[in-house]
Amino acid sequence: MSQPAAAQPLGFGLGLRPGHYDAVLEGGHRVDWFEVTTENYLVPGGKPLHYLERVRARYPLVMHGVSLSIGSTAPLDLGYLRSVRELARRIEPAGISDHLCWTGVGGVNLHDLMPLPFTMEAVAHVAARVRQAQDVLDCQLMLENVSSYVACADAEMTEWEFVAQVSEAADCLLLLDVNNVYVNSVNHGFDAREYLRALPVARVRQLHLAGHSRQGGMLIDTHDAPVAEAVWRLYERAVARFPEAATTLERDDHIPPLAELVAELDHARRLAASVLEAAA
Ligand SMILES: [Fe+2]
Repeated sequence: MSQPAAAQPLGFGLGLRPGHYDAVLEGGHRVDWFEVTTENYLVPGGKPLHYLERVRARYPLVMHGVSLSIGSTAPLDLGYLRSVRELARRIEPAGISDHLCWTGVGGVNLHDLMPLPFTMEAVAHVAARVRQAQDVLDCQLMLENVSSYVACADAEMTEWEFVAQVSEAADCLLLLDVNNVYVNSVNHGFDAREYLRALPVARVRQLHLAGHSRQGGMLIDTHDAPVAEAVWRLYERAVARFPEAATTLERDDHIPPLAELVAELDHARRLAASVLEAAA
């Protein structure tokens, strides 16, 4: 199997959005790499792939999928995995990621990232599927922790124990979404710092930053706003614990001009630099 995706620190990246293609290709932005939504580029030919290859000529890319459904009880979609592998051969990404969740069963796609039950049975089930997917892709997968709004009554462990155990049992990498940890810590009432402490340092290769919104007493992972102050504070702790991990800023709604996101990414750079300086 190929060696870990993103084995070298990539630095500070942005989620690539179609509205920014032209601005990105103009160049001159302080962005080290881009994270691309895998499903947008699986159809051979066409405009999206044309743009993607032009961006790839200038920047490292990481492929970030949303429909692997690694936790489902439905068989893994081998056709989908093969098309992901084809795209990876074409653009040679620094990594391939998806989410530690399920998105459908019985032919129904929920178009949402549904949380898994935190049980030993689910650890074994997911780990076996991750290994199968990694065999097809011929590389280690990075799996991302998701936000959630309900808790499983039959949980046998905490969310962070579940994430850590899956990564060890599957021998995969982790993409730690700092905003999702914060959102879940508020929604489910746990200490976010404990989450960070529980994850195996060597497996966490990438951090996600995004904005959320509040609805009643719940936080919702909306990706439609700048990163919240409390999430920046948790990000500082994440950088201290996972100093080798790359940082990504995500925005999926109310997407501002590229320069605005680059300025927010600069803020992440400054925070990370001061955390690492203080630790040196
Ligand atoms: Fe994320």
